[in-house]
Amino acid sequence: MNITFRQLKIFEAVARQLSFTRAAAELHLTQPAVSMQVKQLEQEAGVPLLEQLGKRIHLTEAGAEMHRYARAISTLLTEAEQVFGEMKGLKRGRLNITVASTANYFVPRLWATFRVRHPDVTVSLDVTNRAGLIRALAENQTDLVIMGQPPEDMDLVAESFMPNPLVVIAPPTHPLASAKNISPQRLQGETFLMREPGSGTRSLTERVFAEKGLDASTPIEMSSTEAIKQGVEAGLGLALLSVHTLEMELALQRLVVLDVEGFPVLRDWYIVHRAGKRLSAVAQAFRDFILQETTAIVHVPQV
Ligand code: PGA
Repeated sequence: MNITFRQLKIFEAVARQLSFTRAAAELHLTQPAVSMQVKQLEQEAGVPLLEQLGKRIHLTEAGAEMHRYARAISTLLTEAEQVFGEMKGLKRGRLNITVASTANYFVPRLWATFRVRHPDVTVSLDVTNRAGLIRALAENQTDLVIMGQPPEDMDLVAESFMPNPLVVIAPPTHPLASAKNISPQRLQGETFLMREPGSGTRSLTERVFAEKGLDASTPIEMSSTEAIKQGVEAGLGLALLSVHTLEMELALQRLVVLDVEGFPVLRDWYIVHRAGKRLSAVAQAFRDFILQETTAIVHVPQV
């Protein structure tokens, strides 16, 4: 049989409409063109597919069979079109990611590996604090968010992909730098450097302080993790930060992690999107990549 997709498509419309005129109108063809394609299909099949009874046309048994195949083939074709369309999307797509300022320390490394595999995909990476991340999700301004603590009162899909321990840091010259099992109460009276309200690190620090009965009423507030690290190094005070922000300073021994009881506080990193959001092929691929490969690429400093 030498059947063409065009013949099948035209036959499918005739069989569904049971009318040459309506099928021709639907396909923007003339009626003789439609009749001719159906006739050629019948010749190829070697059996009549339609019969005319009075003014109306009916499907023969072979016609009903052919209609079934025509529908199945057309569904597969549409599916193939979608798959290739998405592949094109993946090849040349664009991704908007919004990440916590503390995730800033490892996301560019992940993107670099992803980009080797998808060199034509472009990214716009927005870095903000937790309040900014929540706003980006609420206003649907981003494809994917990487954050420490997804809010519980929003309809989100949040998947954890790596541990995110929170530690107490000090300069190496601090009297407690080499002490063991420091009780949290010994930190009372120390000055703490804290991130701005709206920061996830800040709210977690406040929660931990409340749990341990510590008073954090007079912190030095700084709206950047970099500034906090510089401040701690310079002897301004102590701070609680995610270990992911400290890789370099710990390796160079410019900062030390204090051995405080109950620390590190263990939590996870999450990749998040709004429930019901249709992720693009690129977003889907990046999400899968993060979930499956982060731990092989990003090293969590041991504390
Ligand atoms: P942030 O990020 O302190 O920069 O807001 C951390 C988080 O989302 O937990």
